[in-house]
Amino acid sequence: MQNFDEIIDRKNTSCLKFDAMSGYFPEATDLQPLWVADMDFKTPSFIIDAMKEKIDHGIFGYTRPTKTLIAAVIAWMKDRHNYTIKEEYLTFVNGVVPAYSAAIEAFSAENDEIIVQTPVYYPLFQHIKSNNRKVIYNPLKENDGYYTMDLDDLKTKITSKTKVLVLCSPHNPVGRVWTKKELDDLAKICLDNNIKIISDEIHADLVFTKFTSLASISKDIANITLTLNSAGKTFNIAGLNCGYAICHNDSMKRAFDTIVKKREVNSINLFGFVAHEAAYTKGHKYVDELKSYLASNINFTYEYFKNNNSKITFVKPEATYLLWLNFKSLDLKHTQIRHKLLNNAKVALNDGTSFGIEAAGYFRLNAALTQEKLEEALCKIVTNLH
Ligand SMILES: Cc1ncc(COP(=O)(O)O)c(C=O)c1O
Repeated sequence: MQNFDEIIDRKNTSCLKFDAMSGYFPEATDLQPLWVADMDFKTPSFIIDAMKEKIDHGIFGYTRPTKTLIAAVIAWMKDRHNYTIKEEYLTFVNGVVPAYSAAIEAFSAENDEIIVQTPVYYPLFQHIKSNNRKVIYNPLKENDGYYTMDLDDLKTKITSKTKVLVLCSPHNPVGRVWTKKELDDLAKICLDNNIKIISDEIHADLVFTKFTSLASISKDIANITLTLNSAGKTFNIAGLNCGYAICHNDSMKRAFDTIVKKREVNSINLFGFVAHEAAYTKGHKYVDELKSYLASNINFTYEYFKNNNSKITFVKPEATYLLWLNFKSLDLKHTQIRHKLLNNAKVALNDGTSFGIEAAGYFRLNAALTQEKLEEALCKIVTNLH
């Protein structure tokens, strides 16, 4: 079993999370990083070994996906998510976000409208804007910290210019794993209105409840869906820049692949392929152990706030290691909370408002670190915010 308690120094390792804080949080120094969504755990040894074997081979020329990699992805989807896919549905890409941006170009024209459900992982609306499409906001509904989709609002937002709906499933940052019924209801509206769905499922492996891949629900739904995924989050290999898209619909896939080629989104790092194959052939046990460590960190945080009578609250996420912390009961302005987190507690969390304007009073905490370091961070937060 991997030792998730091992503290590894990530400083000065070309690491965005530790080494780029002065750019993102210029107002403070000596911060403990709890922001970027990667983990402070070592990538599992079976992936490192596969990469070492490739290094020992000693030639790093141009590459392409192998049959064994394709088989590994297909088997992972079936075994982990009971989702049957075929080789011809797959396109390998150099990341979920580059593929997402390509999909926006493939499925819509300039000035078309694209719906996002905020608060959400911000590149999902940024890339709508950078492709000169119009972002239409369909904010999630919040009830006591638990988020659901607002399908009544969604129906009022659809016009003849609405071409795509973006789904984040599981949802970053609110931690929901959408139920089959929620997905089905959403997809029916899209089917009725000729709207395609881009389903970002990068967090699908890190679920604490049952996950349903949107396209696995029915043929009709698969026919309007492009799914994006990667082993990047699950196995902490985001820096290897590799992922894949799944598309059952021939003409959608052709449109997507055309833009993928145009933008060179299919120029993939050799080690991305090697790591994905090792992850998906050898990774089941690791993922179960990782999830159990993450769940214990989530519970630890929950109990820590409770035992210290903290006014900071959160609903335990149904997926991911990202905690959507609600500071509203502290009776401070959003800017004051941010100031105290950075200047007094000395911790770097993602600002809630970067995920959507409705998220004032929220900050996202990344709990994928050792419990020892997590406790240090929580102590600083509780001591300095109250
Ligand atoms: C929902 C979601 N999609 C995509 C990504 C990034 O994917 P990639 O690194 O493959 O571009 C993230 C990273 O935080 C994410 O949370």
